[in-house]
Amino acid sequence: MMELIKKDVTLFSQSKDSIWLDAHLAPQMLAAHLDTEFDGATRNAEYIDQSMEWLTQKCPAQSYPKLLDLGCGPGIYAEKFYEAGYQVKGIDFSELSIAHAKKSAQEKGFIIDYQCGDYLQENLGKEQYDIIVLIYCDLGVFSTEDRNRVFEKVYGALKKGGRFIFDVFTPKKYAKFEAGDTWQLEVDNFWTKEACLHLSAQKNYPGTNTYLDQHYLLYPDKIKEFFIWETVFNKEEVLAELQAAGFTTSEVFGDIRGTAYTSESETLCFVVEK
Ligand SMILES: C[S@@+](CC[C@H](N)C(=O)[O-])C[C@H]1O[C@@H](n2cnc3c(N)ncnc32)[C@H](O)[C@@H]1O
Repeated sequence: MMELIKKDVTLFSQSKDSIWLDAHLAPQMLAAHLDTEFDGATRNAEYIDQSMEWLTQKCPAQSYPKLLDLGCGPGIYAEKFYEAGYQVKGIDFSELSIAHAKKSAQEKGFIIDYQCGDYLQENLGKEQYDIIVLIYCDLGVFSTEDRNRVFEKVYGALKKGGRFIFDVFTPKKYAKFEAGDTWQLEVDNFWTKEACLHLSAQKNYPGTNTYLDQHYLLYPDKIKEFFIWETVFNKEEVLAELQAAGFTTSEVFGDIRGTAYTSESETLCFVVEK
């Protein structure tokens, strides 16, 4: 069984199962989204409020009315943007999250356009939006090719002068990283309802800033497999990719609350213009 964990996984290959879409894990991820006490699937409530305060000052709804939220989850930010006066569209590939978002908007009488889909595949439209946001470092899960596809699609969907705002983790996040592998028996918890053997490993790909958090859940009749990729970035490499994608003006901050970037920042936030 340990051979599964030792097996070399090709960089950025997709696992058979997804933490966002698996029948047991999707509800766990939704619960993590809705629990804003801690930084789980979304940031904690205080951070989100500080983000909203900064974002709405940086790009006021009066000047940047049409907003697209990529990976909107159950609509935590989307609802706040709507309340701040933006016309909001949110896309997420989790059916569960989108169903929750739609129900919540309906109950509150909010008019938010939610779409269930993969934003790497969906047509995001041409010159439609004044702002596109991708919040909580989601860009790090993609291969270089898919990341550049995101930049290309966002560029196409923004109006001239529109802004793309996103955050990423820096190498500081993994400053104390140690590779490891372990196993444990699990039952009735975050990972699983039925008893299973859980093998997991954390790896860095030599010569890259890419990490893999690899999990196998072994049941008598099946194996579930989850690869969670994360790439962390330096300021210069992201700026070079953005420039290659056509973005012009770029401002760089230490996080999506607009704090100043320093060499100690664990995140970077980019505000770039088409
Ligand atoms: C870390 S959560 C962040 C959610 C939200 N931006 C926030 O900060 O509250 C990532 C979200 O992106 C969604 N997601 C990941 N990859 C996606 C893709 N390719 N297309 C659509 N949604 C995606 C997941 O379902 C999840 O809701």
